[in-house]
Amino acid sequence: MQLILGIESSCDETGVALVRLPADGSLPQLLAHGLHSQIAMHRAYGGVVPELASRDHIRRVLPLTRQVLEDAGAALSDIDVVAFTRGPGLAGALLVGAGAACALGAALGKPVLGIHHLEGHLLSPFLSADAPQFPFVALLVSGGHTQLMRVDGVGQYAILGETIDDAAGEAFDKSAKLLGLPYPGGPELARLAQGGNPQAFKLPRPLLHSGDLDFSFAGLKTAVLTQAKKLGDDLATHKADLAASTQAAIVEVLVKKTLKAVQQAGMQRLVVAGGVGANRLLREQLDEACAQRGIRVHYPELHLCTDNGAMIAMAAAMRLQSGQQQADCSYAFDVKPRWPLDSICTA
Ligand code: KG4
Ligand code: ZN
Repeated sequence: MQLILGIESSCDETGVALVRLPADGSLPQLLAHGLHSQIAMHRAYGGVVPELASRDHIRRVLPLTRQVLEDAGAALSDIDVVAFTRGPGLAGALLVGAGAACALGAALGKPVLGIHHLEGHLLSPFLSADAPQFPFVALLVSGGHTQLMRVDGVGQYAILGETIDDAAGEAFDKSAKLLGLPYPGGPELARLAQGGNPQAFKLPRPLLHSGDLDFSFAGLKTAVLTQAKKLGDDLATHKADLAASTQAAIVEVLVKKTLKAVQQAGMQRLVVAGGVGANRLLREQLDEACAQRGIRVHYPELHLCTDNGAMIAMAAAMRLQSGQQQADCSYAFDVKPRWPLDSICTA
């Protein structure tokens, strides 16, 4: 049995978690996790301010680590491996987590392991009570990424399709901003959309019939802007309708392309991960479409959809367990603000 501490600091949440890696090969277990969201701090600026993010991670990371250890009834000396998010993300923010992890590792004489943030999201459904089994198709939808992947095992990821411009979360966030909603726009737009008519406005479904599995969301925000301008003073009374129409357009493209990917890959299992995976309409439509086709869908627990430390500790545990990687004691850390997921594939 090994205890793995995971630290996430790639963007605007500081996350720390402790995971137990059983010696018998069974699935790693989450013992405790702590999260500090910087949303309230960045809200005044309408988006993430990188320098403020880094400084706040510095303030939060050690108190959160202490709290997580206390919650798990563990001591610092019980930690066997310290994992951290090595990328992709904001360079300064990543450096805080990497620095803290390597300093802890060096002080304890324990090895450290840098983890790919998207692999964390991808494997986060393994933390839920209804954990998936390999192989599956994954829809990874976050603020910076939109990818369809074939996942055959830990480290065995093949990209089937991805966005050629904006990510799905970005489409939510940018459209929300145009509607005057506060950061982060995705959940705000989804909330507003609940009271709106999704058919009120005809918005484009980019690349829906492109024949491949790629996405494009950049044109959608322009269409939303055009509609908002057209409405002028009437925007206030039609805001919920425009929000609902925007959400419907994003979700329809995501659902149709995902179903196509599952069908083309000949799979019966789908995993949805990343912040946009928290979207209720997306979950409802995927659940319904997959139930009709006999496809099992797995999501991370709702509170583990957005960034957190548990997914980083879990990804580290699963990489170690599968023999994909070993933690090391060099402590010469570097971070990778841009880091394609396929570069860590072993298949
Ligand atoms: O995975 P995540 O926490 O961070 C990244 O790695 O990017 O994803 C954040 C993204 C943001 O764009 C946010 O607006 C979006 O996920 N998001 C949502 C919802 N909750 C978070 N988008 C739509 N509906 C939601 N309920
Ligand atoms: Zn993320």
